[in-house]
Formats: sequence, C-alpha cells, structure tokens
Amino acid sequence: MPRTITQRRDGGKRRTADRSKAVTAPEREPRSEPKLYTTKNDLPEDRRVEVIDLLNQRLAEAIDLQTQCKQAHWNVKGPSFIGLHKLFDDVNEDVEGYVDLIAERAVQLGGIAEGTIGAVESRSTLPDYPIGLSSGPEHVAALSDALAAFGRTVRIGIAEMDELEDADSADMLTDISRGVDKWLWFVEAHQQGTP
Ligand SMILES: [Fe+2]
Repeated sequence: MPRTITQRRDGGKRRTADRSKAVTAPEREPRSEPKLYTTKNDLPEDRRVEVIDLLNQRLAEAIDLQTQCKQAHWNVKGPSFIGLHKLFDDVNEDVEGYVDLIAERAVQLGGIAEGTIGAVESRSTLPDYPIGLSSGPEHVAALSDALAAFGRTVRIGIAEMDELEDADSADMLTDISRGVDKWLWFVEAHQQGTP
C-alpha cells in the first residue's frame, strides 16, 4: 500500500530533537589565501597584488549595490510604482555591468575575483538595505543612499589606483563612477521636486 503523507517514516515514533544541533549553523571554513597567477602583464607583481585586493573591495560593494537595486525593484509600491520599478531595474542592469568589469579586471591581473556572498558580506562597506521599506519615497531615499555610498568608495578607488600607477583600473573606475553619478541623479531627482 502506498505511504500517505501523514505516515511518518519512523512509524510515528517521535525522536527527541537535539536542539543545540537544530539551531546551530555549521561552522564555515576560513577563506583560503587568494593566489596570484603568473601573467605576461607588465604591471609589477607587488602592485598587482595591491590592485587586485582593492578591486575585490570594490567588487563586493558593486555586488552589494546590485542586490539593493533588485530589493528596491521588487518591493516598491505606491502611485509611482511602474516608473520606479522600471528605473530600479535599469540601474541594476548597469550595476551588473560594473560588477563584471571589476571582477574581470582582477582576473586579468592574475588574481581571483571574490564574488561570493560570504566575500561580499565580509568586505562591503555599504550600509545594509532596510528590509521593510515599501513606498516610493522610502526606496528612493534608501537606493540614493546606496548609490552615493558606492560613488564615494569608487572615487576613493580611483585615487588608490592612481597612486599604484594602474591607469587602466583608474580609468575603469572613473567610467563606473560617471555611470553611478548619472543613476544617482535619476533616483535622487524624485526627491528634488521642491527646492
Ligand atoms: Fe523584474
């Protein structure tokens, strides 16, 4: 006779739950040291190591920003719903491009792009996006905060790359910061109807 969903595999005997096991998340393995691949790229190795680490910092923040764009896109409600829903997705699409540019630059220099959730959580300096927001003005305020914070950290990155004499990474971050400033304007304009 086929088992019904009300029948328990153990014949109905209730096992005593080990509560300490039930609520404790497994320990995470510590992250391994990132390795550096050899490359014919002529940037000196010691400089590449520093650049890759800084790129991974910006990568974590770009991925964090991307998740925040989607959080806003999915959850916004109210009279401006359709405009903001579409706008937040447009921002997300460009931010996804920034993520790819930064990650691939780290790999081009012989590094490993650290794009996991764990790496993002430990590296990102962006403020966490408040979960319970619903109205357009709330999401506009939160996402413009995130864009402004990301813009600031990217501009710091440009200065750091200049110092390390990596003109290409500085140029890439300059391009990204210009894009972020545009999107900050698009989002922030919703708060600027009255002087
Ligand atoms: Fe969507």
